[in-house]
Amino acid sequence: MIRGKFITLEGGEGVGKTTNLAFIKSCLQQYKVTVALTREPGGTELAEKIRQLLLNKEGETITEQAELLMIFAARAQHIKHVIEPALAQGNWVLCDRFTDATYAYQGGGRNISKFTIEWLENLVQGNLKPDLTILLDAPIEIGLARAKARANLDRFEAEKTIFFEQVRQSYLSQAAQYPERIKLINANQPLAHVQKELAEILETFFQ
Ligand code: TMP
Repeated sequence: MIRGKFITLEGGEGVGKTTNLAFIKSCLQQYKVTVALTREPGGTELAEKIRQLLLNKEGETITEQAELLMIFAARAQHIKHVIEPALAQGNWVLCDRFTDATYAYQGGGRNISKFTIEWLENLVQGNLKPDLTILLDAPIEIGLARAKARANLDRFEAEKTIFFEQVRQSYLSQAAQYPERIKLINANQPLAHVQKELAEILETFFQ
């Protein structure tokens, strides 16, 4: 059995991940691979419960360390019960956010050291890394306006502007550090252009 590939989609708030996730899935299916679509935090029963706790603004303040550990707890469940079994069966996994989001949000946004995140990444993931990551980037005003036009803001969406600026800069520096794996797309252009670039990236990936 040939192991499947692991593809992740990343980006700040309101950059159009949901629309483009469906598009990426349909592109992958044209290449005749079976795609398991999933998300983080979440993807299993327990991990979805952790997600609800993380996004909920009510109740006691969640410390930065607790937030980081909850994210990796959810990730451990997700890898063990969903991602690894799917890849081992030869399916491809398309995941809405993964550990690059932790470097961006907890590292960039919350100022948690890279070494701490790396330590947890090694503990929870071992050798598992995405084969391809697509990063949708847009100026934060654009993304936040879109996110705020939706219903209630969650605990992350309610953060201050500086937080999102740090998240964005952190994502961009990761893309610069790992250009082979992370493909950067300007999401601040018409959807048709974004999707043309996505299709090209996937075509190259399949070559
Ligand atoms: P979503 O908006 O893509 O559904 O993700 C939920 C929130 O979780 C989003 O605001 C970013 C946040 N998040 C982190 O802070 N760290 C992580 O590692 C992941 C996967 C998500």
